[in-house]
Amino acid sequence: MNKSIIVTGAGGGIGEAVARLAADSGYRVGVLDIDGEKADAVASSLPDAIALQASTTDPAQIEKALDQFGETPDSLVNNAGIVRFGPLIDISLEDWKSVIEVNLTGVFICSQAVGRRMKDNGGGAIVNMTSIGGVQPNVNGGSYGSAKCGLHLLTRQMAVEWGDYRIRVNSVAPGFIDGGMSAPIFADDEIRSTREVRVPSRRLGTVEDIANSVMFLCSDEGAYINGHEIVVDGGVTNSLMASFPRPKSVDSVGDN
Ligand SMILES: NC(=O)c1ccc[n+]([C@@H]2O[C@H](COP(=O)([O-])OP(=O)(O)OC[C@H]3O[C@@H](n4cnc5c(N)ncnc54)[C@H](O)[C@@H]3O)[C@@H](O)[C@H]2O)c1
Repeated sequence: MNKSIIVTGAGGGIGEAVARLAADSGYRVGVLDIDGEKADAVASSLPDAIALQASTTDPAQIEKALDQFGETPDSLVNNAGIVRFGPLIDISLEDWKSVIEVNLTGVFICSQAVGRRMKDNGGGAIVNMTSIGGVQPNVNGGSYGSAKCGLHLLTRQMAVEWGDYRIRVNSVAPGFIDGGMSAPIFADDEIRSTREVRVPSRRLGTVEDIANSVMFLCSDEGAYINGHEIVVDGGVTNSLMASFPRPKSVDSVGDN
């Protein structure tokens, strides 16, 4: 029998790419999104998929969507997320709460609902979408980074608590991605080219780069990876020292 997967926030961007790769790999796909029209459009373009309109922050809507899916998925990808930029000194409590609600609490709600069913079903794989914004503080991205850093810990926590149920939980932390919520940032040519040259891989990431890592973690090839984060960023979080000036002598070989 084919494997099945539910991808949240799959109406566009990275989630859509994950849903497409899963479908190409033979999965039956639940395309879950708060935006029903976007979910319908993606699901109807895939061979074996169902659109599930629900907010990840509403437990009743999630239970209904799981019933609608009709089976316990082998994998859950908690991809739905939002961003609100702004200096911590100025941001509103409303913005802070909405980012924590979707990016952290929503993942807990979906994972608990699906995790209970996976437990009864003998196991499964969960992949959470974090961010390099949760690895390094990003100026004016404080609520987002705090939620994603919390999500990294939640990932490890679930992996430890749910091992008995044969549920693996990992996360993928995308870097600078040419698409999804970052599309407006990279529409600016100057920002785009300045960032591209500073990424060790000398390019932005694609939504497919992220989907590949997610589906690896869901697959049998990833069967012994549990409680870890794959940072898919072309090396950017390792490049801190590269941005500082250095004396010419450091660039030659030998005792300097
Ligand atoms: N694009 C990037 O550069 C980037 C980088 C790092 C991490 N991420 C993470 O990747 C994930 C996907 O981001 P994206 O760039 O594809 O964004 P996107 O805005 O293109 O897609 C997000 C999708 O989630 C849906 N959504 C939002 N709130 C929801 C809710 N409460 N319930 C259900 N669906 C909801 C939206 O309708 C949308 O279709 C997010 O978790 C984001 O934080 C993205």
